[in-house]
Amino acid sequence: MSKKSLNVGIVGYGFMGRTHANAFRKVVNFFDLPITPVLKAACGRDEAKLKAYCERWGWETAETDWRKLIERKDIDIIDICTPNDSHAEIAIAAARAGKMVMCEKPLSMDGLQGEEMVREIEKAGVANMVWYNYRRVPAVTFAKQLIDEGRLGRIFHYRAKFLQDWTISADLPQGGAGLWRLDAAAAGSGVTGDLLAHCIDTALWLNGTIGSVSAMTETFIKERTHSATGQKQEVKIDDACAFLARFDNGSLATFESTRYARGHKALYTLEINGENASIAWDLHDLHRLQYFDHRDRGNLRGWRSIHVTDGDHPYMSKWWVPGLQIGYEHTFVHQVADFMEGVASGTPAAPTFRDALETQYVCDAVLNSAKNGQWQSVKHV
Ligand SMILES: NC(=O)c1ccc[n+]([C@@H]2O[C@H](COP(=O)([O-])OP(=O)(O)OC[C@H]3O[C@@H](n4cnc5c(N)ncnc54)[C@H](O)[C@@H]3O)[C@@H](O)[C@H]2O)c1
Repeated sequence: MSKKSLNVGIVGYGFMGRTHANAFRKVVNFFDLPITPVLKAACGRDEAKLKAYCERWGWETAETDWRKLIERKDIDIIDICTPNDSHAEIAIAAARAGKMVMCEKPLSMDGLQGEEMVREIEKAGVANMVWYNYRRVPAVTFAKQLIDEGRLGRIFHYRAKFLQDWTISADLPQGGAGLWRLDAAAAGSGVTGDLLAHCIDTALWLNGTIGSVSAMTETFIKERTHSATGQKQEVKIDDACAFLARFDNGSLATFESTRYARGHKALYTLEINGENASIAWDLHDLHRLQYFDHRDRGNLRGWRSIHVTDGDHPYMSKWWVPGLQIGYEHTFVHQVADFMEGVASGTPAAPTFRDALETQYVCDAVLNSAKNGQWQSVKHV
C-alpha cells in the first residue's frame, strides 16, 4: 500500500457513527500510523441530522444514499454503522466496488448470509474487519497475552455474562432508531446477536473454538407496538439467552445475556479458570484485570487487581502516563490503529469477516438449540 492516507466513507450517524468518527479523528493524535484515515464523507438518510453530524465530527462531505457513497472514486474505505439487516448489502456492494470494508458487529443476520459476505469480500481481495471492539480493551488484550504465554495452563472453565435492563417496560416500541434491536427483521436476533456475539467473539479469541452448545432463550414481552406501523406486533427476538458450551480444548463454559437484569446497564464480565491461574474482567471497571496465580507463595496468594495503565500494558504507552486510565471509546481508536497498521503491513487486523463468521456459527447453533431443546454442534469456518 503506497498511499499515506485513506479516505473513509461512513454509513450511519447513530451510536456507532459517533464512536467511529471519534476514533478516526483521535487516532492520529496518539498513534504514529503508516497510513492515516481521512474523514471524507458521511452517509445518512435524514439530511438535517446528517449535516449536523458532519459539522460536529468533521466529515468533509455528505451523501444521503449509501450507493452514491460507494460509487465515489475518492472513497477508499466504507465503514458500516447501520442496523444489522443492512450490513450484507452494503458490504457486498462496497467490496464489489473495490473498497475496503470495516463493518459493525454482528457481521450478518445469520451464518448463511455471513458466508456470502466472506465469499464476496475475499473474491474482491479487499481489506476487511468487524468491530468487535472489546478485544482491544487493554485489560482484555492483556488477558490474551497472559493466556498465550501459558500462564493459566490447561483451561477448565470460561464464564461470560452481558447484562442490561433497558427493555423491561412493555411500553417500549420495537423498530426505529436504537429500538430496531427489538425488531427481529432488522436485528436478526435479540441478545444473542447483539450482546452474546461480543462475549462469543472474545471467548473464541481467548480460548479457541466452541464445539457444541445447549441453550435456552425467552421473550418476556410477547407483543410491542411497531414504530413503523403503530400496530402491536409479535416480538420475535430473544430477550434473554443462557447457554452451556464445550470448547474444543476441553473446557466448559456458561454464557448468559439479558436485557431484563434490573440494575445492570452494560455488565459484561468474563472469568477464565486454568490449572495454574485464573483471570476475571468486568466492563464496569474495564481498566482492571483480576489475576490469581496459584504459584504465588501460599501465604501471599490472593486475587491481584492489576491497574492496566502502565507503559508495558497493551496500547497504554500511546496514551497518558502510568496510572491514568482510558475508557470505552479508546477501544475503537485502537481498532482503527490496528486496521491501518494491517493495511500497511499486508497482515490484516483481526477479526476479519472470516473470523467474525465463526461467531455467527456459534449464534446460529445457540438459537437452534434454544428452539429444538437439543445440544447443537457448531459449524466451523
Ligand atoms: N461494537 C459495539 O460495541 C457496538 C455497539 C452498538 C452497536 N453496534 C452495532 O452497530 C450497528 C449500528 O448500531 P447503533 O447502535 O449505532 O444504531 P443506531 O440506531 O444508533 O444508528 C444506526 C444508524 O444507521 C442509520 N441507517 C439505518 N439504515 C440506513 C440506510 N439504509 N442508509 C443510511 N443510514 C442508515 C440510522 O439512520 C442511524 O444513523 C449495529 O449493527 C449494532 O449491532 C456495535
